[in-house]
Amino acid sequence: MTPATAPSLWADSCHWLQCPDCAQGLAPADAALACTGCHRTFRVRDGFLDVMPPLTGNNKVVAEFYDSPNWPKFRFWEWFTFLLNGGERRARSHIMKHLPHLAECRLLEVAIGDGANLPLIPPSCEVWGIDISIIQLRGCRQRCPDRPLRLLLGEAEKLPFRDSMFDHVLSVGAFNYFNDPVQSLREMARVVKPGGRIVVADEYPDLPNRLIGHRIGLPQLDRWVMSRFLHLGPEFTDIIDRHRDMKLEPIVRAVLDDWQIYSLWHNVGYCIVGQARKG
Ligand SMILES: C[S@@+](CC[C@H](N)C(=O)[O-])C[C@H]1O[C@@H](n2cnc3c(N)ncnc32)[C@H](O)[C@@H]1O
Ligand SMILES: [Zn+2]
Repeated sequence: MTPATAPSLWADSCHWLQCPDCAQGLAPADAALACTGCHRTFRVRDGFLDVMPPLTGNNKVVAEFYDSPNWPKFRFWEWFTFLLNGGERRARSHIMKHLPHLAECRLLEVAIGDGANLPLIPPSCEVWGIDISIIQLRGCRQRCPDRPLRLLLGEAEKLPFRDSMFDHVLSVGAFNYFNDPVQSLREMARVVKPGGRIVVADEYPDLPNRLIGHRIGLPQLDRWVMSRFLHLGPEFTDIIDRHRDMKLEPIVRAVLDDWQIYSLWHNVGYCIVGQARKG
C-alpha cells in the first residue's frame, strides 16, 4: 500500500471531511473514520474511503454498469467520438481549458472514474476524486500509481467534504444520469470556495432523439442499438430513454451564478462553467 492510500492518510485528512448523513465531523477509529455526531463508521477499503450509502435508482444501475465488463466494451464508442474530435486529449482539453490555473490548487473531480482527465491536470494540483464504482477507482489508481490521489467511494449527491474546501470542482461524463443532478450541483457549489469554478460536462441528454430509429418512427431499433450494439444493457438504456428531454438550463439556473453552457464535440456534448451562489 503506497503512502497515498494508507489509512493514516484518511486519519490525517479528517479536518477536510464530514459525515455525508449528518454533516458532523469525522475522527479516526482503527482502520476507519467515525462520525462524531451519528457515530456511523466509514471503512477504508483498498485505500479508498468508503462513504457509500446503499445505492438506489439510477445510481444503482449505473454503478453496476461501470463495475461490469460492459463499460470497457462501450468505451470503444467514447474513444471513437473523441477520435472524430481530434483524439482524446484534444477532445478533453475543450473541457479542461475552463480550468486553466490548476497548479498548486485543490481540485475535486466528482465521478472521477478511472481518472482519464488526470493526464491533463498538472502534478502540483492536489486531486480528490469520488465515484460510485470501485472498479473505476481501482483503474484510477492504476493509471497514476505514483500520484497522491485521495479517492473516495461515494455519491455525487452527498459529498463528504467540508464547505468551501476546494479551489475548483470538475465532473465529466456522468451528470445526466445522477439520481439527482440538482442536488449534486448544490453539493459541488457547497464544497467549492467562493470564486472557484464548477465545470460539468456530459453528452447532451437528447442524443437518442438523433438516432435513426427516432427519425423513422422505430424507437425499438434505437433501444436495440443502445442496449446490445453499444453494450449499455436494457436498464441503462431505460435511464437514457427517460432523460432524453432533460433540460439543463433550469438545473444550472437554480444553483449557479455567472454560468454558461458551451457546446462540445460538434454539438454532441455540453460543458457547464459557473460559480457557486454563496451566502
Ligand atoms: C463515463 S465515466 C466518466 C469518468 C471520468 N470522469 C472521465 O471523464 O472519463 C462516468 C463515471 O461516473 C460515475 N458515477 C455515475 N453516477 C455517479 C454518482 N451518482 N456519484 C458518483 N459517481 C457516479 C460512474 O461510476 C463512472 O465512473
Ligand atoms: Zn453522522
